[in-house]
Amino acid sequence: MVAGNWKMNLGLADAVRLASDVARETADDARAVTVAVCPPTIWLEAVAERVRTSGVALGAQDVHPEASGAFTGEVAPPMLREVGARYVIVGHSERRQLFGESSAFVAEKARAVLAAGMAPILCVGETLDEREGGDAEAVVLGQLAESLDGVALDDPAGLVVAYEPVWAIGTGRTATPDQAQTMHAAVRAALAERFGGGEKIEILYGGSVKPGNAAELFAQPDLDGALVGGASLDADAFAAIVAAARASL
Ligand code: 13P
Repeated sequence: MVAGNWKMNLGLADAVRLASDVARETADDARAVTVAVCPPTIWLEAVAERVRTSGVALGAQDVHPEASGAFTGEVAPPMLREVGARYVIVGHSERRQLFGESSAFVAEKARAVLAAGMAPILCVGETLDEREGGDAEAVVLGQLAESLDGVALDDPAGLVVAYEPVWAIGTGRTATPDQAQTMHAAVRAALAERFGGGEKIEILYGGSVKPGNAAELFAQPDLDGALVGGASLDADAFAAIVAAARASL
């Protein structure tokens, strides 16, 4: 799976154009690789319109756990489902760091996304200090366990996990294939222990994935794809990453 997290970028015209370009340029590969785009919430409907007849799936970047109510400014899981979202990113490090979201709150979101019939893309990752202090694996597995509190899965395909080391996001500094593989293997073992069939859950890597480093990352046995930020804003670059994912199958 390759998912593009557009973050808080693009006006309406550019978002619609990018969605059309991604749908066209990934048309062949999207038969073999799950391709998703996660535009800003306000453009979900317009982007849904563009990708509806293509193989590209729609995802949202965040959600509130309640189904409705007095939560000014928030968007509920059933609303995202209604607009056509199949995936919802939860627990992105920007939400955890800039908006103070706890793993307990992320777990509420993950449960609500599943209850609404969509798949959470659950993000976990350590900071540079945590890695340099030798705590990366403990931090990531701790976040994972807490962010999955109370989560039950009927189908392993119903959950996607993204390992995104905070120090690699938007920095141009990617985890080495070895660093990524080591963490992915630990995450996979934890998922297998936590869920029946958990070893089948897709684990994506995120953090400065580009066309130039995608192939070596995808060559790692426990990397099932990528969650792409900056490079997903360029249809050619994003399509090249999707092509690398397909070539690695
Ligand atoms: P970059 O690809 O820009 O480093 O962003 C990664 C990310 O945060 C995707 O969710």
